[in-house]
Amino acid sequence: MKTMQTIAIIGASGNMGSAISKSLAKGNYRLLLCANELDKVQAVVDEIKVNNPAAEVEAIDCTREASWEADIIIAAVPYAAEQEVAEKIREVANQKIVISIANPLNDTYDGLVTAPDSSAAEELQKLLPNSKVVKAFNTTFAADFSTPVIDGKQADAFVAGEDEAAVQTVAELVSTAGFNPIVAGGLAVSGTLERMQLLLIQLNMKYGYNWLAGWKILHQ
Ligand SMILES: NC(=O)c1ccc[n+]([C@@H]2O[C@H](COP(=O)([O-])OP(=O)(O)OC[C@H]3O[C@@H](n4cnc5c(N)ncnc54)[C@H](OP(=O)(O)O)[C@@H]3O)[C@@H](O)[C@H]2O)c1
Repeated sequence: MKTMQTIAIIGASGNMGSAISKSLAKGNYRLLLCANELDKVQAVVDEIKVNNPAAEVEAIDCTREASWEADIIIAAVPYAAEQEVAEKIREVANQKIVISIANPLNDTYDGLVTAPDSSAAEELQKLLPNSKVVKAFNTTFAADFSTPVIDGKQADAFVAGEDEAAVQTVAELVSTAGFNPIVAGGLAVSGTLERMQLLLIQLNMKYGYNWLAGWKILHQ
C-alpha cells in the first residue's frame, strides 16, 4: 500500500479550502488544515469527522508548521495573500509540491491583475523558486466539489506544471477529489487556464452558465 501523504491546506476555512479538504478526506491522505482563524478551520475538521470519523485530519494554527510537516501544500488563499503565504513557507516548502488554485481577478471581475505574459501560478513559482508549483482546481467552482459527477461523467479538472512526477501526483489528488484530471501542459499554460476561468466566471454571473453542467446556459 502507498505511504500516506500529508497535505497542508492553507486557507482551509474558505470556500475552496473547505471544499477541497472535505473531498480529499476520503483519500489516503493526512490533512493539516490551516487559516488565519483556528475556530473556523476546527469547524471544517469537525464536519469532516462527523461524516468520516476515520479521516486523518487536524486543525493547525501555524501555516509554516503545517507546511513543514506536509509533502504537498495547497495554497487555497486569495491571490493577494499569496506573497505573504509564500514568505512564511519558503524555507519549509523546499522541493515540495505547492498547488496554485488562484484566479488573480481584479476587483470588478473583468480582468486579471497579473501581466499578460504571466499567471498566478508562475508568480507563485517565482516566490517559491525551490518548490514544484502545479496549477490545479482553478476551473472548478467550490460548489462543484459536492457534485463532481454529472450525468454519470466525472467533470474535467485541468492540471499544469513542469515537474512530471509532481504533475502526476497532483493528477491523482484531483482524481481522489472526484474530478477527471486533464494534464494541460507546462506551468505557462496556467495563464490560459486563469483567463479561461475569468470568462467562465463572467458567463456564470451573466447567465448562470456552468460549463461543468454540460456547457449549458442554466437560466436567462
Ligand atoms: N470560490 C471558488 O469557486 C473558486 C474557484 C476556483 C479557484 N478559486 C481560488 O481559490 C482561492 C480561494 O478562494 P475562496 O473563494 O475559497 O476564498 P475565501 O472563501 O475568501 O477563502 C480564503 C481563505 O484564505 C484564508 N486567508 C486569507 N488570507 C490569508 C493569509 N494571508 N494567510 C493565510 N490564510 C489566509 C482565509 O482565512 P481567514 O478567513 O481565516 O482569513 C480563508 O480560509 C482564490 O485564489 C480563488 O481565486 C476560487
